[in-house]
Amino acid sequence: TERTLVLVKPDGVRRALTGEILRRIEAKGYTVVALERRSADADLLAAHYAEHEGKPFFAPLLEFMGSGPVVAAVVEGNRVIEGVRSLAGATDPTVAAPGTIRGDLARTWDTAVVQNLVHGSDSPESAAREIALWFPSL
Ligand code: GTP
Ligand code: MG
Repeated sequence: TERTLVLVKPDGVRRALTGEILRRIEAKGYTVVALERRSADADLLAAHYAEHEGKPFFAPLLEFMGSGPVVAAVVEGNRVIEGVRSLAGATDPTVAAPGTIRGDLARTWDTAVVQNLVHGSDSPESAAREIALWFPSL
């Protein structure tokens, strides 16, 4: 079995979509094994998104992710990393397929950063790294 890190981003928490997002993940058959509402500090967010350092959207992305609490979860199941990415849909919410979290519930706003409700780790290496960052006791 496999684990992934899920974040309900600040837009999802603000819009009261935490339950809806976790519901879709659980309804698919995955198991939430850790769950915490958290205000992430800049160091944690910079480490989380280290792969994007130097890109033009890096500073706005950290600002957005720090603009309110997130809900962090560790989710478990066979092929869950791929599965959650599939449930989330494409990064750009305007074109994310209907039926996905982003496709059904997000859109593009006139803001500096793409607000797309949810994060899921993109590989086993990312998942291990991100789970260690957000849930060091696991
Ligand atoms: P995360 O789950 O947040 O990691 O999204 P992702 O894996 O679908 O996308 P990626 O890791 O490539 O990018 C992380 C975040 O940076 C995205 O969710 C967007 O908010 C933002 N982002 C990525 N690419 C772009 C881009 O080309 N332009 C802008 N403005 N923002 C971007
Ligand atoms: Mg990513």
